[in-house]
Amino acid sequence: MISPPRIELAHVRLVRGRTQVLENLSLVWDQPRIGLIGDNGAGKTSLFRLLCGLEAPAAGEVLFDGQNLHAAGRERTRWVGMMFQNPDDQIIFPTVEEELALGLQSRSASRHEAKAQAREFLAQRGLAHWAERAISSLSQGQRQMVCWLALLIAAPRTVLLDEPYASLDLPGQAQLADDIAAASQQVIVSTHVLAHVRDYPRVVWLDQGRVRGDGPGEEVCAAYEAAVQAAVAARRALGTATAAHGH
Ligand SMILES: Nc1ncnc2c1ncn2[C@@H]1O[C@H](COP(=O)(O)OP(=O)(O)OP(=O)(O)O)[C@@H](O)[C@H]1O
Ligand SMILES: [Mg+2]
Repeated sequence: MISPPRIELAHVRLVRGRTQVLENLSLVWDQPRIGLIGDNGAGKTSLFRLLCGLEAPAAGEVLFDGQNLHAAGRERTRWVGMMFQNPDDQIIFPTVEEELALGLQSRSASRHEAKAQAREFLAQRGLAHWAERAISSLSQGQRQMVCWLALLIAAPRTVLLDEPYASLDLPGQAQLADDIAAASQQVIVSTHVLAHVRDYPRVVWLDQGRVRGDGPGEEVCAAYEAAVQAAVAARRALGTATAAHGH
């Protein structure tokens, strides 16, 4: 594998609407595979949106191999690409081949060449019949797979996968896991299914926009599970106490 890029967040503050999502967040990500975990609303998607330039920091900066990511122009699409939690937020074009061709056109292939390459890419994966399919005629999981293929073909140096396994069937999950293992890029995966990142050398646990755990997947996932169990037990005990009080 080519050495992964170095993504650095320095004292980043991110505000979305009226919510302060990240407060003074500093992190360096330079491993080939990183997992990102944490409760709903912890800030995982917001962090990904920041890293691909869809959100700008209110304070601090994000550096990609030392270059300010938010000051970069078009080249940023070659640095970082994201697979959205909801495929419909990502897909722009009506057909599969057009959607896949988009990533190639940004690499200066002509429209015609890009479509031909997209068809070739689909054929290599046994999906030639998908080329002219209307995206709206695909299932949610199939649309998620299109998003993953679009990212593979565009080949940015870092890929951010936001809950990529959520709608995939079991063969699709296995395919994605194999694709991730084979990818030459830096891959950062956010997931609620800890099994997918437990064996990663590095997992970051976000909690209300702050890093609450950072280390080997085994350790960080175990710490997160323990915290969740403790919180659930406390809630149940409180529920029992409230119910007892009511009688
Ligand atoms: N478009 C938005 N406008 C305002 N606030 C937002 C917006 N999107 C998210 N937020 C807020 O930002 C915080 C972080 O949300 P985010 O979507 O990043 O969490 P997440 O970790 O991805 O959660 P999930 O596991 O549910 O996907 C939450 O408090 C959320 O309410
Ligand atoms: Mg999210």
